[in-house]
Amino acid sequence: MHQPLSLKYRPKDLASLVGQEPIKIALTNAVTSAKIAPAYLFTGPRGTGKTSTARILAKSLNCLNSSVPTANPCQKCASCKAIDAGNSLDVSEIDAASHNGVENARELIERSNFAPVISRYRIFVLDECHQLSSSAQNALLKCIEEPPSHVVFILCTTEAHKVLPTISSRCQTFNFKALSMEAIVEQLSRVAVQESIAITEEANKLIARYSEGGLRDALQLLSQLSLMGEEITPERVVEVSGGIRSHDLATIVKAICAGDVLTVLQSARTLIDSGKTPKLILSSLLAVYRDLLIVKSVPKSENVVVGTLNYSQLRQVANALEFSSIDAALMQLQKSESQLRVTTNGATWLEVCLLNLIHNNQEQHNRNGNGKAGELSSVWSQVIEATKPANRTLLSRAKLISFNESNCVLAVPTSDVKKFQSNIALVERIVSRVLGYPVTIAIEQRKELSA
Ligand SMILES: Nc1ncnc2c1ncn2[C@@H]1O[C@H](COP(=O)(O)OP(=O)(O)OP(=O)(O)O)[C@@H](O)[C@H]1O
Ligand SMILES: [Mg+2]
Ligand SMILES: [Zn+2]
Repeated sequence: MHQPLSLKYRPKDLASLVGQEPIKIALTNAVTSAKIAPAYLFTGPRGTGKTSTARILAKSLNCLNSSVPTANPCQKCASCKAIDAGNSLDVSEIDAASHNGVENARELIERSNFAPVISRYRIFVLDECHQLSSSAQNALLKCIEEPPSHVVFILCTTEAHKVLPTISSRCQTFNFKALSMEAIVEQLSRVAVQESIAITEEANKLIARYSEGGLRDALQLLSQLSLMGEEITPERVVEVSGGIRSHDLATIVKAICAGDVLTVLQSARTLIDSGKTPKLILSSLLAVYRDLLIVKSVPKSENVVVGTLNYSQLRQVANALEFSSIDAALMQLQKSESQLRVTTNGATWLEVCLLNLIHNNQEQHNRNGNGKAGELSSVWSQVIEATKPANRTLLSRAKLISFNESNCVLAVPTSDVKKFQSNIALVERIVSRVLGYPVTIAIEQRKELSA
């Protein structure tokens, strides 16, 4: 039978639960010291191990091969097996979303009065417990506070803030964390090896990025990709997950750096026309700039980037950018992301955001770019080369200190200031020709340049 990987690889004991270290420790201690709370609340994002841990805890409490609760349930007894199979008479998993009424709560309270059939505890796992109506939550209150001694409640939710505080304050709470990129990549590789699925490291990373800390989503995507029966590459991952190809992202980011408004707007338009949402485009760009910031600030960052573009693409773009402009772009993107959430005209906001990115980048470039010594001297040598030999000696005594779209500043030895001033039109013409656009030149006199 074909079983989805996300179910096949449900952790059966605490040792195979990925991440969530504090929870493992706390639960092990609780079970071994027999300090069993009447109610537990498991909170955290989708697919991070709440339901799995609820089952593990249930096995720990009810394992028949131990006379007391155990941190190492045998996995073989009738109780352990039934819990894994989801048909234990003493462990009820209730989907609170579809049993959210006060009558459901009353029925549950009634059931809790019966002694367990084969094991120590009668355990109620209430999945998505935030979906219980307030009246249902209120009805359960008393029972959760002081349940019969053989009853344990395990409430699970992705939205802790929707659980009434009167309930959550009566539960021992465990906060499940979104899993780290590394943890997900590691688990994906492990599963891929066991299942003989061929997948590249980059593709693994990309899946991990798309799944945003949830292992279920990651394994489901891997499952889906493995059905194609060929090696899984980043391109495949992007196709199947509906993401944006790295080539398209690279085009946009490079065009932003180059100040190429037309390409930026056209690429964005093409993506939108092909069904990508402005939100997806923005969040993909956000991931690229995040990677750029890392590449810019960490020397050997190959394993830290989340793999939006490949490493050499990132390096190339990062080299051309200042740290401060990457940082500014990230701020801009974050701001726009929250604006996108409240607007109905996403495409327009996206364009505004992209134009801002270009603008910021150019401003930053002018501010710092003015000062890049290497670039300045190379521009100046081009100017000298482009001029007639007769003028070269004079020009080579000056230094280009800064330039932008319309102005240049030249440092000139005191003795030559007059000569430069009387030939300023000529110098402007030469420089404009080399730069490819008209500039005005200002002269600064520098004593230290005098021979
Ligand atoms: N911490 C984890 N360690 C190992 N596998 C995990 C972990 N979290 C999730 N998984 C994988 O994802 C699947 C779903 O996990 P689980 O049902 O425990 O998530 P959940 O937190 O209850 O999610 P939801 O909030 O959507 O109900 C598991 O069968 C397993 O394959
Ligand atoms: Mg669950
Ligand atoms: Zn057992």
